[in-house]
Amino acid sequence: MNKKTVFSGIQASGHLHLGNYLGAIRNWKAMQEEYNNYFCVVDLHTITVPQHPAELRANIREVAGLLIAAGLDEEHSVVFVQSKVRAHSELVWILNCVTPMGWLHRMTQFKEKSEKQKEEVSVGLYDYPVLQAADILLYDAHLVPVGADQKQHVELCRDIAQRFNHRYGEIFVLPDALIPPVGGRVMGLINPEKKMSKSEEKQEDSVFLLDTPDQIRSKIKRATTDSRKEIVFDEERPGIYNLLTIYQLLTGGKREQIETYFEGKSYKTLKEELAEVVIESLRPLQQKYFDLTGDNNFLDQILSRGAEQAGARAEKKLRQVTEAMGLR
Ligand code: TYM
Repeated sequence: MNKKTVFSGIQASGHLHLGNYLGAIRNWKAMQEEYNNYFCVVDLHTITVPQHPAELRANIREVAGLLIAAGLDEEHSVVFVQSKVRAHSELVWILNCVTPMGWLHRMTQFKEKSEKQKEEVSVGLYDYPVLQAADILLYDAHLVPVGADQKQHVELCRDIAQRFNHRYGEIFVLPDALIPPVGGRVMGLINPEKKMSKSEEKQEDSVFLLDTPDQIRSKIKRATTDSRKEIVFDEERPGIYNLLTIYQLLTGGKREQIETYFEGKSYKTLKEELAEVVIESLRPLQQKYFDLTGDNNFLDQILSRGAEQAGARAEKKLRQVTEAMGLR
């Protein structure tokens, strides 16, 4: 059977949070049997902003461990660390040479991130989306399951692939982003106008996947709401809307059912019930994570087999690319 290929990546820039889980990882697990999958801890993307070496090393392991704990298994998915497959670094250079600067100027994530760093901004951060394109194109991925914030990057990848194909022949598959209709953009708890994020200075804004039950209760308790009372899915009220959406995603309930269930109840009750739902949903994942990271070898072996498999596939593609361009 000819299964289509899925590729997605995740940075090791901090602790993973509910947004990563609901917008991406959980969907990767749900669809893994249907596709050939490559899931990558993108450490070369992570270093586009300064990292402390020991923290980076620990974060790479934590992210990889959480992917395995979330249920990505070797039978269906290759899980690997980007820097262990050299082809990513080689293809990005080649793609740099076919990507117009103007296309990168338009990237909104670069604009946001570079505003914070001002003149310290690295060339790597500017080039970030081209490396992401290299990731995807090396594996002939048809689908890229991501949160809504990655849509523009996947579209750029398509444009780069198309331009390359136009010049050198049909080498690359044009990928499509796959964004969940609900959960594609989980918002911050304190600031529900901004997406929940790993590198957020304010730790209370995010529920991290390894937070303790008490931390989860306390963060959700302090989540921003509004001065109204009704518990309904109303996008005009971003705080309550976000809490209800997380509740919906984790319970699998329908919106009307959830609204009926909470009718006449207080925000306090909603927060308490949501906290318990989050705690119970994360419990098996946390348990598995601590079990598997107790044995250092286990994770190392998975990652080393992953890098080998991904490397073989990527090398083949790179050969095709270099041949088409006259580099071989
Ligand atoms: P990263 O590490 O920021 O996030 C990993 C995945 O989680 C999704 N996500 C969210 N989804 C919903 N709500 C949120 N608040 C939220 N925050 C993050 C992201 O959309 C992503 O799917 N550039 C990518 C990494 C990458 C990549 C790739 C992805 C590198 N190469 C190739 C796909 C294909 C990133 O920074 O993801």
